[in-house]
Amino acid sequence: MKIAVAGTGYVGLVTGVCLAEHSHSVTCVDIDDKKIALMRAGISPIYEPGLEELLVNNMERLNFTTDYKEAYKDANVIFIGVGTPEKQDGSANLSFVYGVAQQIAESIEKDCVVVVKSTVPIGTNDKIEDLIKSKLVHDVNVYVASNPEFLAQGTAVRDTLHASRIVIGVEEPYAGEILKEVYKDFNAPIVVTNRKSAEMIKYASNDFLALKISFINEIANLCEIIGADIEDVTLGMGYDKRIGDRFLNAGIGYGGSCFPKDTKALHWLANFHDNELKTVKAAIDVNENQKLKLIKKSRKYFSSFNGLNVAVLGLTFKPGTDDLREAPTLVNIPIMIEDGANIKAWDPVGVENFKKKYPDEITYCNTIEGTIMDADVCFIFTEWDEVKSFDLSKYSKLMKTPIVLDGRNCYDLTSARKANIIYDSVGRETIS
Ligand code: UGA
Repeated sequence: MKIAVAGTGYVGLVTGVCLAEHSHSVTCVDIDDKKIALMRAGISPIYEPGLEELLVNNMERLNFTTDYKEAYKDANVIFIGVGTPEKQDGSANLSFVYGVAQQIAESIEKDCVVVVKSTVPIGTNDKIEDLIKSKLVHDVNVYVASNPEFLAQGTAVRDTLHASRIVIGVEEPYAGEILKEVYKDFNAPIVVTNRKSAEMIKYASNDFLALKISFINEIANLCEIIGADIEDVTLGMGYDKRIGDRFLNAGIGYGGSCFPKDTKALHWLANFHDNELKTVKAAIDVNENQKLKLIKKSRKYFSSFNGLNVAVLGLTFKPGTDDLREAPTLVNIPIMIEDGANIKAWDPVGVENFKKKYPDEITYCNTIEGTIMDADVCFIFTEWDEVKSFDLSKYSKLMKTPIVLDGRNCYDLTSARKANIIYDSVGRETIS
C-alpha cells in the first residue's frame, strides 16, 4: 500500500514515522523545504521523545518531499495531518486542511482513501469530500474517512504505537476496510462508526479531559480555603475506577495546542447551532482564571514586581515538549515584565522558542541554581523532572528570600517543611 501524509507537524510526522515502523512505505509532504531537508538528513524538526530515533531507523521506508503531486498521484491512502489553529472567534481555521484537499483533488490519478487526522469541527469531513469530488482532475473514486488522533505531546510516539483506541469514521465499508488493513499491526481496539461520530469522539474526549482538569482545579482552590489537601483528595478519588486517577493533577491550568482550542471550537459550534455547552464553557472560564493563580497568590508576599528578582522554572505548557502554545508563562511573564521585574528563567528545551518572543527582557540560565541565585521569589510553571528532583535546601541557601510559588505541586509538604522555605502550592497548606 502506498501511503502519503500531508503535514509534518506533531500529528503528521508522528503518524508517518509510526506507519513506517509498521512496515508501510510513507511519503511525508510539507510546504516547508527547510523542514524537508532536515528530515531527509534524519533530523526531526520537532522535539518529541523517541521520534528522531524512529525516523532514522525507518529511513528506507520514508520519503520526504515538497512535491505533493508526485506524492499523491498514485497513493492508495492519503492522511491529512495539517494544523487547524484557533481563529480570533474561537472557531477552527480550516484553510490548511482545505488547501491540502484542493491539492489532493488536483493530483490523484487512481482511487484513493483520504484520511482526515487533523482535528476538525463536526461536519468538516463531509465538506472535504464535497470539495475534493468537485475539483477532481481525473476520473477516480475518492473516499474520505475520519481518523482522529489521540496522541499527547511528549508521549506522541508511545501514544501512537500503543494507541488506546483507533477510531475510524466512514460513510461506506470500503474506506473502513482499507484503514483496518493500514492499522492491522497496531495492537489497539478499533471503533468503526460514521464520520460525524468519529469527529465528535475527538472533541468530546479532549473537552472531557479539559473539564476534568478545570473541575479538579476548582476543588483545589476550595481545598486551600477550607484547609483540605488536594493531593490526598485526588488520591482518595482516583481509586474509584469510574473516576480514575489520571488527569486529576491540580495546577495552573491546561495549555497546549489542543485543549484550549478544542474546548473553544466545540463551544463555538454548539452556539452556532443555538445550543449551549455550559460545562465546556465553565471549563474554559475556570482555566483562564487558573492561569493567573500564582500571580494572585504572590500578592500575599509583595504588592508589586517592580525591582524584584524573579526566578522562573519552566516555560513550556508541560514537560517533555518545547511547545509554548497557550503556556501559562505567556500570560504571567508579560505581567511581571510590565511591572518591572528582573526575570531569570530556566527551561531544559523551551528557551529557544521563548527567546523568539522575549529576546532581551529575560536572562536565560542554564541551571536551576543560577536561576534562583539572589531571587526574591521563585515561580514554578512546569513540572520538569529536574525541578521535581531539585534539592529543596538549595532554595533557602541560594535565594535572597526563599519564597517558592509552585503551580505544579512538585514537592511534598514534608520535604518543603524541612527546607526552611515559604512554599505555596496549589490546593494545599502554605508552608512558612
Ligand atoms: C492532549 C490530549 O491529552 C491528547 O489525548 C490529544 O490527542 C491531544 O491533546 C490532541 O488533541 O492533539 P496535549 O495537549 O499534548 O494532549 O497534552 P496533555 O498531556 O493532555 O496536557 C494538556 C495540558 O493539561 C497541559 O498544560 C498539562 O499541564 C495540563 N494538565 C494535564 C493538568 O493541568 N492536569 C492534569 O492532570 C493533566
